Amino acid sequence: MCGIVGYLGFRNAEPIIIKGLRRLEYRGYDSSGIATVANGGLQVVKCQGKVQDLVDKIDGSLAESGIGIGHTRWATHGVPNDVNAHPHVSASGKLVLIHNGIIENYASIKEALQSRGVEFKSDTDTEVLVNLIDDIRTVEGVNLAKAVRMALNQVIGAYAICVYEIDNPTKIVVAKKGSPLVVGIGENEFFIASDATPFLEYTKTAIYLEDDEMAVVELGEEVKVRSIPNNKAINPYVHQLQMDIEAIEKGGYDHFMLKEIYEQPKSLRDALRGRLLADQGIIKMSGIFEYREKLVNADRILIIGCGTSWHAGLVAEYLFEDLARIPVEVEYASEFRYRNPVITEKDVVIAISQSGETADTLAAIKLAKERGATIFGVCNVVGSSIARESDAGAYTHAGPEIGVASTKAFTTQVAVLSLMAIQIAYEKGLLKESYYYQLLAELDAVPDKIEKMLESDSKAKYISSLFKDAPNFLYLGRGFNFPVALEGALKLKEISYIHAEGYPAAEMKHGPIALIDENMPVVVIAPKSGQYEKIVSNIQEVKARNGKVIAVVSKGDKEIAAMADHVIEIEESMEVFSPLLTTIPLQLLSYHIAVMRECNVDQPRNLAKSVTVE
Ligand code: AGP
Repeated sequence: MCGIVGYLGFRNAEPIIIKGLRRLEYRGYDSSGIATVANGGLQVVKCQGKVQDLVDKIDGSLAESGIGIGHTRWATHGVPNDVNAHPHVSASGKLVLIHNGIIENYASIKEALQSRGVEFKSDTDTEVLVNLIDDIRTVEGVNLAKAVRMALNQVIGAYAICVYEIDNPTKIVVAKKGSPLVVGIGENEFFIASDATPFLEYTKTAIYLEDDEMAVVELGEEVKVRSIPNNKAINPYVHQLQMDIEAIEKGGYDHFMLKEIYEQPKSLRDALRGRLLADQGIIKMSGIFEYREKLVNADRILIIGCGTSWHAGLVAEYLFEDLARIPVEVEYASEFRYRNPVITEKDVVIAISQSGETADTLAAIKLAKERGATIFGVCNVVGSSIARESDAGAYTHAGPEIGVASTKAFTTQVAVLSLMAIQIAYEKGLLKESYYYQLLAELDAVPDKIEKMLESDSKAKYISSLFKDAPNFLYLGRGFNFPVALEGALKLKEISYIHAEGYPAAEMKHGPIALIDENMPVVVIAPKSGQYEKIVSNIQEVKARNGKVIAVVSKGDKEIAAMADHVIEIEESMEVFSPLLTTIPLQLLSYHIAVMRECNVDQPRNLAKSVTVE
């Protein structure tokens, strides 16, 4: 996710754009930039860092201008630095563009342009797009709007773009697919942004572009919206906005955490985009391909992480051992780094980290690397320390996760690790074709299933109201869902401050069952699985001691529904992918309980989003 802002009108564009970028920093904050035109010349300032760093770099150097575009970045291609920051200017110097999204086929387009002599400065997919548009405009001799449309019909991916001609700064062409773009309509002025927060104080009249739509924003003209595929004119719905700024930043949700729970269908699609090609029956992961020998021939895989990332690692342990038959050890980074571990150059270490800056995880992989291991990073923040320390890796593309409690980070980590395990198993010849294709199809279907599950959270909310004052919770799971029990307990602990413990369900009889009484809510994760009958017995053991059972079950499960106190249903999927589904109701449960307890959900006490200290 990145933030885009554009302005065309009678005011000076710079302050409007800068203030707008500050409002959009929640969408991405690794670098930013601005481009305006004054006295016939382009003025571009951009740099790594936050918007304040950009303001410091501008330092009053920009002449007043009535046209401008600005961008705050969440890197997907190309590490965060000054060169990769947006806006990007075409090689000819004629066009300047900002972009939020991912161009999947940028590499082939870049190659074609380079073969025609176009030179690139950055590693970004965005610079390819601005040069493609410029190339078409020049070669075909068409106007900017037509060149944009022709270019976008060649592009595969997601985008929200603003682009204008430097020597004709009277109009801005915008286009949208998969990333948000809204046009604010004022009196003789226009605003363009990722959401309405940058222009709410100027106008509440707005047009939200739909996917595959583009528009020309020109002073003195109506906003002309057209379809990108067929160029048909579209009569857009003009909104009169009612939301306040804070509500818009959170997408209308009360908290970033809830927004990020509901973003999971999209973040999973982004994590799988360009990697899981289920209809072609293939997985494309460059990081895997580059180190396939190491991964396929690994004697063991060490997985290192902290907190939720460590839980994702535990899910990966079940995946890799079940599918790829490679021994896996999952380690808390803080323990691994100090216990003088045995590491050889045959070891592969997978480091999992949303922030890519967790001090213990970074130190642990540095130690492993010094001792010869190959490091594979699974991070969300592009260009983060752990990503840069890794020999290879795969970004989760979850977008910024603002809520301290990880939600979409966990599911996108598990999705990426699932792809890795399946691909390595397939490369080792361990998967029958039919099973391989079934795995791909099922994983591809998970985002839609989560979307369906998120149609209502009323059940989770009701159950939360019954147990919000419980002093303790137990979370039980088996197999692939044992790590989910740990993750569910962590979610509850860290945002509602209720003590909660996760256990393998079978472990109850070795002591914890002594805790069970009518005051102990027990969340049991019990989807249809190979151990279903066992988990049913565990539920009966809890009920026999008057425990209150909240069961997460497969849709339509009547057997457990007859014995549990409450059930929350999940959509059916293959057992290997059940953690992606069973974790959703647990996220909602912890969220609603925390809200009902009036806790600070997005910034819980004592916690930080990234633990960059020991
Ligand atoms: C999880 O909800 C917490 N925010 C925390 O446990 C987190 O997972 C842990 O600090 C690791 O962070 P990382 O993924 O950024 O390395």
